[in-house]
Amino acid sequence: QKRENIRSLTMSGHVGFESLPDQLVNRSIQQGFCFNILCVGETGIGKSTLIDTLFNTNFEDHESSHFCPHVRLKAQTYELQESNVRLKLTIVNTVGFGDQINKEESYQPIVDYIDAQFEAYLQEELKIKRSLFNYHDSRVHACLYFISPTGHSLKTLDLLAMKSLDSKVNIIPVIAKADAISKTELQKFKIKLMSELVSNGVQIYQFPTDDETVAKINASMNGHLPFAVVGSMDEVKVGNKLVKARQYPWGVVQVENENHCDFVKLREMLICTNMEDLREQTHTRHYELYRRCKLEEMGFADVGPENKPLSLQETYEAKRHEIYGERQRKEDEMKQMFVQRVKEKEAILKEAERELQAKFEHLKRVHQEERMKLEEKRRLLEEEIISFSKKKATSEIYQNQTFMGSNLKKDKDRKNSNFM
Ligand code: GTP
Ligand code: MG
Repeated sequence: QKRENIRSLTMSGHVGFESLPDQLVNRSIQQGFCFNILCVGETGIGKSTLIDTLFNTNFEDHESSHFCPHVRLKAQTYELQESNVRLKLTIVNTVGFGDQINKEESYQPIVDYIDAQFEAYLQEELKIKRSLFNYHDSRVHACLYFISPTGHSLKTLDLLAMKSLDSKVNIIPVIAKADAISKTELQKFKIKLMSELVSNGVQIYQFPTDDETVAKINASMNGHLPFAVVGSMDEVKVGNKLVKARQYPWGVVQVENENHCDFVKLREMLICTNMEDLREQTHTRHYELYRRCKLEEMGFADVGPENKPLSLQETYEAKRHEIYGERQRKEDEMKQMFVQRVKEKEAILKEAERELQAKFEHLKRVHQEERMKLEEKRRLLEEEIISFSKKKATSEIYQNQTFMGSNLKKDKDRKNSNFM
C-alpha cells in the first residue's frame, strides 16, 4: 500500500463544508427514494395482507388462483409520501408460487426476474449517454420469503428457492400467519429453520452491525430471525384503543403487540432502520456480483495474463483483434472450400466429357465399320451387276445369232419347197 503524502491542517475560522451532509440530505429528499420489495410465498399465505399492514394502506391486490400453469411475477409501483419524503415503492408478488408439480419451474421465474432488473440497470450503465439520475431503478432490494407455519421443517421448494436467490437478493425470511402456531412451538420452529438454513448454506440478510448507532438493536434483532408475523387491516377495540388485530372466538391477536408476534420488529428493521442498507447491499453486493459475472462472460477482465493490469480499451482492442482474426480465418476457410468444391466439380465434368468423347469415338468406329461393310456389299453388287450385264449381252448376241441361223434355215427350206 502506497503511503499518501497528506498533511492535516487546522482552519482558523468557519468555512462551511460541515453542511455537506445536510446538502446531501436535501438533494436526496428532492430526488425522492425508491424501494422495491419482492414477496415470495405460496398462494394465500398472506403476502398482500402483510404488505398492506406494513405500509398501513390498501394496495388493492387481487387474490390469485391456485391453478396457474406457471409462476408469474406481478410488479406494481406506488408513490407514497411521509412528511416531506417521497418514496416510490414497487411491490413484486409471485403469482402461483408452489402450485406447480415441477418445483424448479416455481423459482426459476423469480431468478429470471431479478436478473432481468440487474440487466436493465447494467444496460443503462453501459450506454454512452446514460441517465442514471432519473432512471427508475427496478432492482429488488428486499425479498420477503414467506414460510408456512407448519412447525415442521422447511419444504424442499423453500430451500431450493432460497438457495438460488441468496446471491442475488437480500432474503428476509418470515414465518407467515404466526397466529397459527403456539408460543413454544414457534421458538422450536425458529431454531429449526435457522439451523436448516445454515446447514444448507443459505445466506439470509443479516442486519448490519458495523454502524454503531444501530449496531446494538440490529445485533439483537438478528437473534430473532426469522420474524414470525401476523397481518391484518382489521381494527379491533382493545381497552379503549382501536388496534390492528385478528379476532378469534377465544381472543384477539394484536398485530403490533410484540408479545403476540414480530410484526413491529419486521417493520422497524425493514423500513425504519435498514432500508438504506438494503438498498446499498443490493447495489454494492448483489448487483456488483451480477455485473462482474456478466462482464467476465463478455470477455472483460481487470488483469491479463501474468496478472498485468488490463484496461477496458486494451481488452476491447484484443477482443476486436481476436474477432477480426477469427473472421479472416473463416473467410480463408470458406474461400479454400469454394476452390476445392470448384475443382471437384471440374473433375466430375472432365470425367463426363471424357466418357462422352469415348462413346462418340466408339460410335464413330461402329459407324465407319458399318459403312465399310455397306461399301463392300455395294462393290459386290456392282460387280454382280456388271457380270450380269456381260452375261446378258453375251446371251443377246447368242440369241441373235441363233435367230438369224434359223431364219436362214427357213429361207432355205422355203426355197427348197418352192423347187419341189
Ligand atoms: P395471493 O396473492 O392470492 O397469493 O394471496 P396472498 O398471499 O396475498 O394472501 P392474502 O394476503 O390475500 O391472504 C389470504 C388469506 O389469509 C386472507 O383470508 C387473509 O385474511 C388471511 N391472512 C392473511 N394474513 C394472515 C395472518 O397473519 N394470519 C391468519 N390467520 N390469516 C391471515
Ligand atoms: Mg396477494
